[in-house]
Amino acid sequence: MSKTKKLKILVLHGPNLNLLGDREPGIYGKTSLEEINKSLEKLAKELGVGLHAEQYNGEGELVQAIQEARTQYDGLLLNLAAYTHTSVALRDAVAAVKIPAVEVHLSNIYQRETFRHQSLIAPVVLGQVSGFGAYSYVLGLKALVHGLKERKN
Ligand code: DQA
Repeated sequence: MSKTKKLKILVLHGPNLNLLGDREPGIYGKTSLEEINKSLEKLAKELGVGLHAEQYNGEGELVQAIQEARTQYDGLLLNLAAYTHTSVALRDAVAAVKIPAVEVHLSNIYQRETFRHQSLIAPVVLGQVSGFGAYSYVLGLKALVHGLKERKN
């Protein structure tokens, strides 16, 4: 048995992602949020990390969740959805807690409307995965765990 503490990841899904599967499937795919969370839990087990996922439609609730993560989690996997492009408050929260984070998007935000081309979150995270549908989350979790392990060594 390894003596090192198990890394804990918080996955935060932003507004309207509770409707995944049903919501504009041509853009976001047919996979539901529950299916995404299940696949992340399975991958977390394989990677030997703990994982918990939450979804909020409200900006304040997301700020609160990021603040509360400070004492409980080692890494953040974030799809802040529309707030990615608008929320200084969420960017400041991510910067404030200093928990390494990875940003993910189902769609390729750079192929879409120009208002989606800017992420206010990108400058305060380790990196971003965009455009692989539900698989963006898988890639994002792998990248986050890799980044956290690199920092430990
Ligand atoms: C999204 C992209 C955002 O522009 C959009 O507002 C979303 C979802 C994505 O996962 O592709 O709600 O974050």
